[in-house]
Amino acid sequence: MIGIIGAMDEEIHLFKKGMEHTEEKVKAGITYYVGEFQGKPIALCKSGVGKVNASVCSQILIDRFGVSGVIFTGVAGALDPTLEIGDIVISEDCQYHDLDASALGFEKGEIPFAQKSVFAADSKLIEIAMEASQEITEGKTMTGRIISGDQFVADRTTVTELHHQFNAACVEMEGAAIAHVCDMNDVPFVIVRSMSDKADGSADVNFLEFTKLASNRSYEIVARMLKKM
Ligand code: ADE
Repeated sequence: MIGIIGAMDEEIHLFKKGMEHTEEKVKAGITYYVGEFQGKPIALCKSGVGKVNASVCSQILIDRFGVSGVIFTGVAGALDPTLEIGDIVISEDCQYHDLDASALGFEKGEIPFAQKSVFAADSKLIEIAMEASQEITEGKTMTGRIISGDQFVADRTTVTELHHQFNAACVEMEGAAIAHVCDMNDVPFVIVRSMSDKADGSADVNFLEFTKLASNRSYEIVARMLKKM
């Protein structure tokens, strides 16, 4: 069984619509839709926004539903200047951008006393996501670092800083938490994100306007991925 996570309704609704033999189970306030999508067993859920929601949701998918892999589908703010709204980023790896123990001499984003602060996505899932995205003609796809924090970024100066500090392709609010939990449990994961905005001064307006389009693009890729798994 594969776990599929989105943070918002827009990010999961097409999966929900396409599922069959679905049972609903609630745990820690999150509803899990367990059933089949294109004949493949999946556990689908809306984690809610932010790192804690994403962490709890990931651990429940692993413990209670025994998922053998986790895929996140949804939207992000572009940091790489070559990315346009609708374009796709597939996680090579993930890191927190809001973790800051620099007063103790640690790098920004470095988890103090931990063995690693950057969590690599599964190479096979990345390959399948790239294959799936190549079947879609609109927009471009890149692999790269996805950074996460409990902040909606909407400022050009922050975009430039984050892009250079972390060499990141895009920013969102859940990916690194999912990556961290999957890493702790030795469960493969990949994060698929379509750009709803450029995390700049227009991000709030663009997010509202383009979240549906971007969520649907990400869905197209993840749905095609499941066919290949
Ligand atoms: N998700 C989509 N756009 C985002 C942004 N600009 N900042 C954080 N998360 C996002």
